[in-house]
Amino acid sequence: MIRKKIVVLTGAGVSAESGLRTFRDSDGLWEEHRIEDVASPLGWKRNQQLVLDFYNQRRRDVLKAKPNAAHFAIAQLEEKFDVVVVTQNIDNLHERASSTKVIHLHGEIFKSRSTVDYKLIYKCEGDILIGDKCEKGSQLRPFIVWFNEAVPMIEVAAKEVSSAELFIIVGTSLQVYPAAGLINYVHATVPKFLIDPKAPDVSFVRNITCIAKKASEGMSELTDILLKKY
Ligand code: OAD
Repeated sequence: MIRKKIVVLTGAGVSAESGLRTFRDSDGLWEEHRIEDVASPLGWKRNQQLVLDFYNQRRRDVLKAKPNAAHFAIAQLEEKFDVVVVTQNIDNLHERASSTKVIHLHGEIFKSRSTVDYKLIYKCEGDILIGDKCEKGSQLRPFIVWFNEAVPMIEVAAKEVSSAELFIIVGTSLQVYPAAGLINYVHATVPKFLIDPKAPDVSFVRNITCIAKKASEGMSELTDILLKKY
């Protein structure tokens, strides 16, 4: 039997029940930090310590966090479907829940990279400090895609999305492009589902069902629907 292909697009909301803060909710990270200070090439140029402190804290938070029921439910869909996860998250909770195909659009917190050669990427489980250098002698930075930087994985993601037979969106405000634009690559006839307690406006999208619940509850409900119907 040929398995149906599901693409799941996730954002910070899928990890909220793991204790990781989202960005734009009222208690979100962007309430306390300015995007241009900590998540842009200009911010890095101005104050590397501030940027390193911000991401070192994110890494420590993820080390303490565990995948929640939503991550596990997404991983379990692999028992019946061909599943590709496209995530905007820099945490590794999908992988730790055993999802096998995960595309990280905005980088990964457990990697660092050279500032002179973007291809030099290293494993990184502890803090990155000023003075930590790549093999070419340049300061290491977090392996994160910042605002005003290209998103190298977007084409790979768009290709996966355009062959999706079912499309699921979990916990993203759909405010950041090009990630938010991926929905436009899904074929109009493909059934789409959105799980978010405060769903963004998707009235322009055809064939979409909104489940206004937290990720864990919403994914449990959706899994029942998918297993019965497809
Ligand atoms: P946002 O903080 O913009 O949006 C989080 C979404 O999750 C909102 O729609 C919330 O309603 C929803 N949410 C909150 N709690 C939830 C829960 N328990 N279950 C399900 N949904 C919940 O985060 P993203 O859309 O992921 O990029 O943000 C996109 C990008 O903006 C991030 O990857 C990051 C950020 O700036 C970079 O830093 C490059």
